[in-house]
Amino acid sequence: MSKSSETKLEELQDLEPSLEEFRASVIEGLSASRKTLPCKFLYDRRGSQIFDDICDLPEYYPTRTERQILEQHARDIAALIGPELRLVEFGSGAGMKIRLLLQALEKPSAYLPVDISREHLIAANADLAQTFPDLCIAPVCADYTAPFSLPDLPGISYKATAGFFPGSTIGNFTREEAVSFLAGARGLLGSGSVMIVGADLVKNIDVLRDAYDDAAGVTASFNLNLLRRINRELGGSFELAQFRHEARWNADLERIEMHLVSQRRQEVTVGGQRFSFAAGETIHTESSHKYRLASFRALAAEAGYEPIEVWMDEKQLFSVHALRAL
Ligand SMILES: C[S@@+](CC[C@H](N)C(=O)[O-])C[C@H]1O[C@@H](n2cnc3c(N)ncnc32)[C@H](O)[C@@H]1O
Repeated sequence: MSKSSETKLEELQDLEPSLEEFRASVIEGLSASRKTLPCKFLYDRRGSQIFDDICDLPEYYPTRTERQILEQHARDIAALIGPELRLVEFGSGAGMKIRLLLQALEKPSAYLPVDISREHLIAANADLAQTFPDLCIAPVCADYTAPFSLPDLPGISYKATAGFFPGSTIGNFTREEAVSFLAGARGLLGSGSVMIVGADLVKNIDVLRDAYDDAAGVTASFNLNLLRRINRELGGSFELAQFRHEARWNADLERIEMHLVSQRRQEVTVGGQRFSFAAGETIHTESSHKYRLASFRALAAEAGYEPIEVWMDEKQLFSVHALRAL
């Protein structure tokens, strides 16, 4: 992507994980006694498109609820994080929620969306640049679980840096991983920066399960797409019809788990290696941890932040936290 003369869209900083990293992660995950695959690889071009469809599902309350909270409190958030800002978004996806903040912010200086899904990131920001032609947009394709640095933006001055991590994507981490991610983000953003994080809340189990196993089967196709990706990119031999999507509530860890359940005893090869599946054996592909306000604040404090504000919807389905990096 080259810098456009009509917009202030900077060239993509491309740190996309290599095919070799993908292969090594898949082989490691399938070799474990309890098979697992990293959820970050759910997001290839097709996976990101399916995720956008999930966001529109009647069962998937997180997106519309968080949007509602952001719409209602965009001015409060803008007042808190201030003018002439360098705004970093982690896992920016289709870039819809940031629009609500950008409209409310006073003269934002630069927007730096970070996402692992390269094609989707490029398309989303080409679109955003049309809506905000005066805003400097500097997309970064990177895995935010590994260290990376933000691009220099010569000629762009800013008074502060803020982070935005919506979508309850933080729920994909274990508690330990979430602390480590937030601590890393604090290093990237700098002491004194405000971080706005969307965290989904513990609620009725049926509501949760339906959100991750919708009637139309869109979440099932999102999950199964990972096997399709492995077949295409790593020469895997998964037969998709022989695996079934399942969403499970893990009460001890207060999380929804997405699994792919082997429908029979079978063998699959990936990258020249053979993996055996028993009937009913699963691959754990994603966790979505649900929080309580106090447990989330404690986690943030452990990562070096002072919790300064929280906004919720009326039904208390979802929370948006403002944290200040110490
Ligand atoms: C649950 S979706 C949320 C998308 C959007 N922020 C929203 O709120 O609707 C997670 C997003 O994070 C990205 N993502 C997941 N794991 C990532 C990683 N390790 N590094 C960078 N981006 C990642 C995905 O590509 C996807 O766009």
